[in-house]
Amino acid sequence: MYEDLRGKSVIVTGASSGIGKAIALRFGREQAHVVLNYNSNNKPIQAMVEEIESYGGKAVGVQGDVSEEESVQALIQAAHDNFGSLDVMVNNAGIENEVPSEKLSLEDWKKVIDVNLTGAFLGSREAINYMLENDIKGTVINMSSVHEVIPWPHFVHYAASKGGVKLMTETLALEFAPKGIRVNNIGPGAIYTPINEEKFQDPEARASVESMIPMGYIGKPEEIASVAAWLASSEASYVTGITLFADGGMTKYPSFQGGRG
Ligand code: BGC
Repeated sequence: MYEDLRGKSVIVTGASSGIGKAIALRFGREQAHVVLNYNSNNKPIQAMVEEIESYGGKAVGVQGDVSEEESVQALIQAAHDNFGSLDVMVNNAGIENEVPSEKLSLEDWKKVIDVNLTGAFLGSREAINYMLENDIKGTVINMSSVHEVIPWPHFVHYAASKGGVKLMTETLALEFAPKGIRVNNIGPGAIYTPINEEKFQDPEARASVESMIPMGYIGKPEEIASVAAWLASSEASYVTGITLFADGGMTKYPSFQGGRG
């Protein structure tokens, strides 16, 4: 638990499932006040609000597509109207689909870039504007991936979006460090979430992914949520412009394990 997160106003985009849901609930456990953004899936939201309230936090669900400027502005407004501030912006919403690059349509390319990269930009820009206007030394956390550094055939749009998020975050961190606003990335590896549920249900596919994880197992969303809580807390007060990989070692060239090479 991080004492200073109690009562902080937090927005989590893509909060209705997977990593976003775990992050939102973790901030709830920290007794923060959480705007739960969802796009199409509102089913879990009411139960999440109740769970967060049972921890002594507060929460409100807000529908919105993060690739739309007005939706993102409405999220900031909701944090202001409901909780009187905005201290932590978690740009988590993301999508992916597998398509060999030579067959990737412009439409699919744009969709992934719009949500993963443009969405994170809009969330960062709007949150930073609010923090500047209200003299808040807040923090922005963007959801990147191991694929900000690891190329990923059949997911070129996804990898490009995360590579973009990496330099966007580093640039914003540099730009707003003098204002005391910290901007960081989390780089999850393979995590059990609905985005890849189907893939990990197939034992062969799961074993193949596990063989690329030095720690030998696929991570849990809560193992990413704990990183988000730490990055948002004052324990990370001197940390800006980084990607904190939580990937069981996936980015550390697992094919060299055992002294190969
Ligand atoms: C993707 C997952 C994938 C993992 C490791 C993540 O960014 O969302 O689908 O399993 O990277 O490749």
